Amino acid sequence: MTSEKVKENDLIFLILDGKRRWLIQVKAGGSFHTHRGIIEFDEIIGKNYGTVIFSKPYETQGYKFFVLKPMPSDYVLHMTRKTQIIYPEDAGFILLYSGIGPGSVVIEAGCGSGALTCILGNYVRPSGHIFSFDIREKSLKNARKNVERAKLENIVSIEYGNIITDNLNLKNVDSVVLDLAEPWKAIEKAMSYLKLSGALVSFSPTIEQVKKTTFAMRDNNFVEINTYELIKRKIQVKENATRPETRMVGHSGYISVGRKIRNKKNPYRERKPKKKEFIDFTGMPLRS
Ligand SMILES: C[S@@+](CC[C@H](N)C(=O)[O-])C[C@H]1O[C@@H](n2cnc3c(N)ncnc32)[C@H](O)[C@@H]1O
Repeated sequence: MTSEKVKENDLIFLILDGKRRWLIQVKAGGSFHTHRGIIEFDEIIGKNYGTVIFSKPYETQGYKFFVLKPMPSDYVLHMTRKTQIIYPEDAGFILLYSGIGPGSVVIEAGCGSGALTCILGNYVRPSGHIFSFDIREKSLKNARKNVERAKLENIVSIEYGNIITDNLNLKNVDSVVLDLAEPWKAIEKAMSYLKLSGALVSFSPTIEQVKKTTFAMRDNNFVEINTYELIKRKIQVKENATRPETRMVGHSGYISVGRKIRNKKNPYRERKPKKKEFIDFTGMPLRS
């Protein structure tokens, strides 16, 4: 494999240091202004990804910038955002636990800034499709812009649609991914769009949402219903001071997953024993 060259209109990941890093589109004749000088795009287009570039004017600025090909995580963290986005680790988990991959057909609601949409779109290439919906014009506009920047217009469609009340006219999709305020209200509809064995994934920041969503999934005969939380810690590596960094994102959200089945009553047992939701304390030596 040879190194890939930067083409006109590519999105590149431009890095000055640990804090100053940008996801930018390189257009011929254009430039990017930073407080550490100007980067001319014509100096980047045609060069290999992995190149170093210096800011202009060279004599007074001349700072060193790295030009890298963006990773999916860079798209998420550095794309234009107007809503709370999903972090890369959560997106990775969603991919593995939903089975979304090349060729998958997926419904997503809401698309928000389109951060998760772009990641999903990237993984269903070349023959899959992401049908993404939102009810806010601002989100739709922003998500469309980000999908275009990621060159995913043929793989992702962004449309107005209320996952709770609208009929989306889709059937037998592989997965439904929810990231909205009241996901529990969308479970019944989501189930009607899924194929048998398909996966529903719901991302929610609070436990109250998780409980309501889980109960709604149980009521709609989903199986393998589980909720997870991921904690990511970045490690600072220094001579004699290698340890987790002091500051971290302490919480992003909970991810609930479930699978659709065609449920049947057990013909071999007339009465199913009732599973108790609460612990029975009768006869327990409790203190008064
Ligand atoms: C937290 S944002 C989603 C962020 C997104 N996952 C991302 O990575 O950028 C939640 C979005 O859900 C949308 N939403 C809320 N209720 C909805 C519904 N019933 N149907 C579709 N979208 C909805 C909101 O307008 C908002 O844009």
